[in-house]
Amino acid sequence: MSATGAERSFVLLKPDAVRRGLVGALLSRFEAKGLRIVALELRQVTGELADEHYAEHVNRNFYPPLRTFITSGPSIALVVEGDQAIEVVRGLNGATDGRKAAPGTIRGDYSLSNRENLVHGSDSPESAAREIKLWFPELSD
Ligand SMILES: Nc1ncnc2c1ncn2[C@@H]1O[C@H](COP(=O)(O)OP(=O)(O)O)[C@@H](O)[C@H]1O
Ligand SMILES: [Mg+2]
Repeated sequence: MSATGAERSFVLLKPDAVRRGLVGALLSRFEAKGLRIVALELRQVTGELADEHYAEHVNRNFYPPLRTFITSGPSIALVVEGDQAIEVVRGLNGATDGRKAAPGTIRGDYSLSNRENLVHGSDSPESAAREIKLWFPELSD
C-alpha cells in the first residue's frame, strides 16, 4: 500500500475486552477516528488459531499464558480500512504494556497489564495481509 492510499488492518478485541463490556467503547474509538469496519465477527479462538496468529511468538516464554488468555473466552475479530490504517490502529492501541501505554490510548486508558491489554493490531503490511487471510479468508480473494 502507498503511504496515503486506503489500507486494511486486522484488529482483535481480546477476551478481556468482551468480559469487561468494553466492545462498544473500543469500536467507537476506531469509528470515531474515521476507520471503516469492513468485517466483524465474534470468535472463540482455538489453540490452533492462536498458534497461527501468534506464530512469531510461539517459542517465547510469555506464549503459554498468552495462549491460555486468548482462548479464555470470545473475542471480536475485525478488519478496518482507512488511510495508513495499520499505523493509525497501532497508535490508537498504545504500547504493549498497559502500565506504560500513554493516556489517551486504549491500553493506556483501560489496561494495567502487559498480557491482558485488550486489543491486537497488525504491525506491518505483511502482517496485515497474513492475518486478514488467516481470520477472514473471504476478504483475500
Ligand atoms: N512480556 C510479556 N508478558 C506477557 N504477555 C506479553 C508480553 N509481551 C507480549 N505479551 C502479549 O503478547 C501479545 C503480542 O506481543 P507483541 O506482538 O510483542 O505486542 P503487540 O500486541 O503490542 O504487537 C501482547 O499484545 C501481549 O498480550
Ligand atoms: Mg505484535
